Amino acid sequence: MAASGVNLKAVSPDSLREAADLLRAGRLVVIPTETVYGLGANALDGEAIARIFEAKGRPRFNPLIVHVPDAAAAQQYVTMDARARAVAAAFWPGPLTMILPRRADCAISDLCSAGLPTLAIRVPAHPAALTLLRESGLPVAAPSANVSGQVSATTPQHVAEGLGTKVSLILAAGPCDVGLESTVLDLSRDQPVVLRPGAITAEQIADVLECDVGYDFGDHGQDVKSPGQLLKHYAPSIPVRLNAVDVAPGEALLAFGAIRFMGIKGGGHAKDLPETALKNMSETGDLHQAASNLFRMLRELDRPEHTGIAVMNIPDQGLGIAINDRLKRAAAGSQKS
Ligand code: TXA
Ligand code: MG
Repeated sequence: MAASGVNLKAVSPDSLREAADLLRAGRLVVIPTETVYGLGANALDGEAIARIFEAKGRPRFNPLIVHVPDAAAAQQYVTMDARARAVAAAFWPGPLTMILPRRADCAISDLCSAGLPTLAIRVPAHPAALTLLRESGLPVAAPSANVSGQVSATTPQHVAEGLGTKVSLILAAGPCDVGLESTVLDLSRDQPVVLRPGAITAEQIADVLECDVGYDFGDHGQDVKSPGQLLKHYAPSIPVRLNAVDVAPGEALLAFGAIRFMGIKGGGHAKDLPETALKNMSETGDLHQAASNLFRMLRELDRPEHTGIAVMNIPDQGLGIAINDRLKRAAAGSQKS
């Protein structure tokens, strides 16, 4: 045990069982991987994923890497073409993440993908991580286990200093072998592209794929000045209107909290809108619940029969800051708003 309030345990059958139970309960567990320590949560549980962003501080909904025990498990969530299968056979388990199209029936929380139609997925080469993934039967989303703005943690002590009191358990397994985040390879487009450099190089991947592999570090690299400026952002195809206090005829409503007193311009109550035109991210005003529903509900309301999506005000505090950040991007990226 480290400092009081910090649950740091060496990897053992008991601590692995505790970790699996905590993940099932929606809690945060720091897991060792061969690259860096990961701040893990059950990827099927949107509210657990929301807690990851909260724990990192300065929360911002960047898409996360989902960890699975093998390629067969990955295929439950993403479509793996011949290229992806070849790369998996060559480099998994190992420090390589693939960006692949989500399957239509993908059960992973939309918050992991930040609303994008793709998912980042990898099989880590660490015995403790693999045992946990197999025994829990859960896909685990895990960004690097550091507070936002600090370097990735590669020792349990470093994790404990930054996140110790914010997670339910730190599984300690000594310093990480690689010490650098995984290579991120985008295979969701025709041309394979490395978005983040890592231990596995574009040349090694090119040898396996027998084709050119490009680099597009954009701002995915290590020295990220503005980590929220991702290459792509989710945006609905219809206009998004923020801080709405009423609904225009034809608009859908993305609500937060009580809507009893919200009206439709020209007459009527928002609460009487059809179910297809009204989604409430959290009737009780819970920001975790709202975060977990955000991208799914935006997508559900993005229908051609709606003239746009009116979004109620979200308090700009805690996770609300990240929700508002994404809503602003969705509004800026939508067709005409
Ligand atoms: O080594 C690693 O990859 C570590 C360990 C814990 O596995 N994890 C890690 O996660 O570095 P994180 O969240 O710090 O970095 C995820 C990277 C980011 O550059 C993010 O933009 C990119 O993966 N990414 C995730 N999902 C994506 C997507 N759907 N499309 C494009 N890029 C994505
Ligand atoms: Mg990171």
